[in-house]
Amino acid sequence: MKTISVPLGDRSYSIHVGSGILQKLGGLVGEIVPASKYFFVLDENIESSHGQIAMHSFSEDTDACSLRAVESNKTMDSIQDIWSAMLSYGCDRTVPLVAVGGGLVGDVGGFAAATFMRGVSVIQVPTTLLAMVDASIGGKTGINLPIEHSGGQVVLGKNLAGSFWQPALVVADVDTLNTLDDRQLRCGLAECVKHAMLGHEKLLTWIEQHLVEIFARDTSTLVELVSECASIKAEVVAQDERESGCRALLNLGHTFAHAIEPIRELSLCHGEAVSIGLCASVFCAEATGLVDADYVDRIRGILTNIGLPIRLPASVNIEELVSIMQRDKKTVDALIRLILPTEEGATIVDEIDDGAIGLAWASVGASA
Ligand code: GLY
Repeated sequence: MKTISVPLGDRSYSIHVGSGILQKLGGLVGEIVPASKYFFVLDENIESSHGQIAMHSFSEDTDACSLRAVESNKTMDSIQDIWSAMLSYGCDRTVPLVAVGGGLVGDVGGFAAATFMRGVSVIQVPTTLLAMVDASIGGKTGINLPIEHSGGQVVLGKNLAGSFWQPALVVADVDTLNTLDDRQLRCGLAECVKHAMLGHEKLLTWIEQHLVEIFARDTSTLVELVSECASIKAEVVAQDERESGCRALLNLGHTFAHAIEPIRELSLCHGEAVSIGLCASVFCAEATGLVDADYVDRIRGILTNIGLPIRLPASVNIEELVSIMQRDKKTVDALIRLILPTEEGATIVDEIDDGAIGLAWASVGASA
């Protein structure tokens, strides 16, 4: 088992990455947050498999509620359901919440924990690659809010309400990736590529060279991939817990991705939207002279080799996309803030005009 530290003073915690550690979860959690009982929020997909293994590893009393991991469930109704189940189970402030599943369950479970009785401990047990390398680390929790945009259509604004609530512990058992479908594995790889683009050239090359082992779910390759990417995330979070500086770089590709992910007709998972968002970002970066054409080709090539989309699956109106971006929570006074790649890492760009953003959308297949 590899252990990575997230040094945040009295909110410091460890990330354990390994194989066969779900069976030991109760012991690992008990060392950090001993309690007489534990409440679980389980991803419906893995409730009867990894969820049961996780719960049975505890000798204390446990209870659980489950959540279907779809964006339309990332709402206050789900939070209310979790709070109600916790009250029925007799939870008080001493009962930790253990969130087992993908990023959505971690975000919703984390927000329920942050707000139940003004905050109880949360343990993140990610079972998708995306959650292992990104969502479970750093304490971002939240839900989507409906927003109406031009034409009266209502879309869900991603993560528009939430809180920073650091977990007490993160336990990532790569064995859970054996049952993750290839599409979701590819989505996790989009976030791994994004992490690598933040100045970790060696990791980018390593990912390119290990795709066969990754898709074969080779245990030691997966432990290496997850621990390398988790270390990058941990380092950024330790420097800037509340995103007042460098943590914003983790949003590379995400301002574009958040605009297309909620559009139902596109049927994009988060990692697929991130992949297209990364392509739009590298186009913008090339147009502003931050990277050269070879870099653009390289990123597109890696994403294509992984099997991720590099263009929109159907055309979407550019104006509509720019208007959704203006409502992103990273937008200030309707000025879109973009994170753009550079040859050495990434940089924050605040003064990019809508025309340049429109061209970036056109480069991934959006239309005027
Ligand atoms: N997923 C971006 C962050 O945690 O800051």
